[in-house]
Amino acid sequence: MSERTHLPAWQALEAHAATMTPSHLRELFAGDPQRFATLSLRHGDWLLDFSKQRLTTETLSLLRNLAAACNWREWLERMRAGEAINHTEQRAVSHTTLRAGAEAPADVQASLARMADFCERIHSGSWRGHTGERITDVVNLGIGGSDLGPRMATQALAAYQQADLRVHFVANLDAADLAGTLSRLNPRTTLFIVASKTFTTLETLRNARSARDWLLSTLGDASAVSKHFIATSSNLAAAAQFGIPEGNVFSFADSVGGRFSVWSPVGLSLALAVGFKHFSQFLAGARAMDEHFFSAPDSGNLPLTLALLAVWNTNFLGTTSRGVFPYSHSLAQLPAYLQQLEMESNGKSVDRHGQTLDYASNPIVWGSAGSNCQHSFFQLLHQGRMRLSCDFIALARADFPLPGHHDSLLANCLAQSAALAFGQTADEARAAGIAETLIPYRTFPGNEASTTLILPELTPFTLGQLLALYEHKTFCLGVLWHLNSFDQWGVELGKQLAGQLTPALRGASAGPLDTSTQGLIAHLRFLQK
Ligand code: F6P
Repeated sequence: MSERTHLPAWQALEAHAATMTPSHLRELFAGDPQRFATLSLRHGDWLLDFSKQRLTTETLSLLRNLAAACNWREWLERMRAGEAINHTEQRAVSHTTLRAGAEAPADVQASLARMADFCERIHSGSWRGHTGERITDVVNLGIGGSDLGPRMATQALAAYQQADLRVHFVANLDAADLAGTLSRLNPRTTLFIVASKTFTTLETLRNARSARDWLLSTLGDASAVSKHFIATSSNLAAAAQFGIPEGNVFSFADSVGGRFSVWSPVGLSLALAVGFKHFSQFLAGARAMDEHFFSAPDSGNLPLTLALLAVWNTNFLGTTSRGVFPYSHSLAQLPAYLQQLEMESNGKSVDRHGQTLDYASNPIVWGSAGSNCQHSFFQLLHQGRMRLSCDFIALARADFPLPGHHDSLLANCLAQSAALAFGQTADEARAAGIAETLIPYRTFPGNEASTTLILPELTPFTLGQLLALYEHKTFCLGVLWHLNSFDQWGVELGKQLAGQLTPALRGASAGPLDTSTQGLIAHLRFLQK
């Protein structure tokens, strides 16, 4: 038995889950008119409704006992004190200091001042390309945490987009990504940001080299790089080796994890896209959520509550997946961002002592924007046999107000969570006039759990709050599951193997290979002849 499962608080939840499993959300709502009031939280003008989760107030108090038994506040204090809680890499975890405002360390404040100055130079046109032309396009070359955060936030804040500057994101090793973007750009007016914490990532370096070749094939002179290449990285030596002058490098500490780095210079592309004033508001929003997380009691703490709901679903109700459905086109990239944040952080199978977990860790996170999702996979959610938990996110006010859209969008969001929770019985289908032969096809079992988060509107500030909410939820889950949320050793093996296989695809020997990989390589080489 592991350190977690032997906790009396864990075992109390197991016993409680056995009594809860047969209950249907229909009965839970029918039996408690106060259910919405007691199973929802307000924070300013935010509302987190988890009354459609398959739990009761007793469940919640047992979950809070578990959080206390896992000493989550001690872990929070250890993170805030700068202890090396990322023990496998011997690193502290410092992303919250990047948005600490006046409390931020001097190096962070200096870095933000440099970013502000750089944004001003690009926006005012005082920074010019090699041929003296103004920069009209910025291309962020990065992947994972050096792409998903700024890419998602730039789309989310499309309503705040700077005039006269377009920001593009290229991540994929597949040249179709870079080539497609470059085909629309002019080298004389394009600025590349090589965003890579380590400055060793294969995809980013390949794209950066190809982008440099593209630039120099028109501009000729190698010194043009200094006017068209910027780096955001913790590895100053490697950026210099690439040929990016020191003055063009925006560095940050290696205690900032890649998936937590949008607040660092990795957010430079975002700051350029929306202006530094809005980037500052984004940081301020995150800071406001930090303050809430650090000081709110357990019973009113939004990130902790989200984490406890995830533990309940994953470890006691047995769901293996979580759908994220922002009813906001601007937040369409949020599920992809959360996939990295949550799955790279907590998709682990050993605890902090290296012992194999005897309980599930992070579920699969997936999703897409509403209302599109209703017309692709929602059929399975309503009538398939998988059990999952859903997050719906809705904005009270539209960021792009056109008459007739927003109320209807919100109605669809609310309708989906209600249909998932309550379904439609055979009798209800009959009462609605459905022919008897179709009754089995027209009933909906319901009892699918969801949480709905309502934000007043999507602004730089609320976006910052939202991302920090999920970051802290991820931190809490790492504590509850007793694992290190801040390393990612699982991505290394595939990288290593790809390094070995590249020569084999070019015809060289790659050492002993399994017969499937050998066969696949042979067929690819045959087709490439
Ligand atoms: O391969 C995973 C990963 O290491 C992520 O954790 C990280 O966000 C991404 O690659 C990119 O890393 P870098 O910013 O060092 O290029």
